Amino acid sequence: MSVHKDVKRITVNNILEMKLAGEKISMLTAYDYSMASILDAAGVDIILVGDSAANVMAGYETTLPITLDQMIYYAASVSRAVKRSLVVVDLPFGSYQGNPYDALNAAVRVMKETGAHAIKLEGGAEIKDSIECIVNAGIPVIGHLGLMPQSVNAYGGYGLRATGVHEAHKLNTDAQLLHELGCFAVVLEKIPAKLAKEVTDHLRIPTIGIGAGPDTDGQVLVINDLLGMTKGFKPKFVRQYLDLHAVISQAVEQYVSDVKAFSFPNEKEQY
Ligand code: KIV
Repeated sequence: MSVHKDVKRITVNNILEMKLAGEKISMLTAYDYSMASILDAAGVDIILVGDSAANVMAGYETTLPITLDQMIYYAASVSRAVKRSLVVVDLPFGSYQGNPYDALNAAVRVMKETGAHAIKLEGGAEIKDSIECIVNAGIPVIGHLGLMPQSVNAYGGYGLRATGVHEAHKLNTDAQLLHELGCFAVVLEKIPAKLAKEVTDHLRIPTIGIGAGPDTDGQVLVINDLLGMTKGFKPKFVRQYLDLHAVISQAVEQYVSDVKAFSFPNEKEQY
């Protein structure tokens, strides 16, 4: 039986069932109505309104500047399109790392104002109280360990994480803690495949990997990377299914040329 095929509307429980059934979980980001409609109809299990919106939608170098209001705008647009996928929204930098009640307020705003089904946040033991507060309010949470882009300034770059024994041990402990705190899944970003397998094998909740090898319970990619929308950006862990940058460029160049040549609009394209 395929959980994915038999379900009309994906729930948090279905995501847990997929791990039990050995069925891989598919997750992709989206930030707007049109893209979310396509991903939903194409059968993606989880649509993540990632704070990577800061990079791919707003052109910031890091994810740090995006605000809660901006995330809510993107998330509401996505939710309006989605009929079947589970919609998860990133809490932005600064909205959950301090006072747990501020974290709860941020999560409640996302749930009330966007129609999303769950939130995601980055970190382990350091944000334990925030996670506890949000989960206790009945809001489903996905954790995020390994490379946590909101901590880029502490790392000094976007390199591979948890290559040393100490950080690998902390990641393993944090993953268990996230499970105990009630998270229903954990994203593992840019860590060695061997470590991701070890965490996945020992964890009862699903792991969803990005740059974490083939053995996590699911995979996530930024949709703009999968579609090849950013020229010259292709990290090793991205499988680029299209060169949409070239496809769009060609179409737009043709349009410009048609307008300049008086060939658009023609007789059939007018009233
Ligand atoms: O913001 C994002 O898109 C993410 C994914 C890369 C997991 O957190």
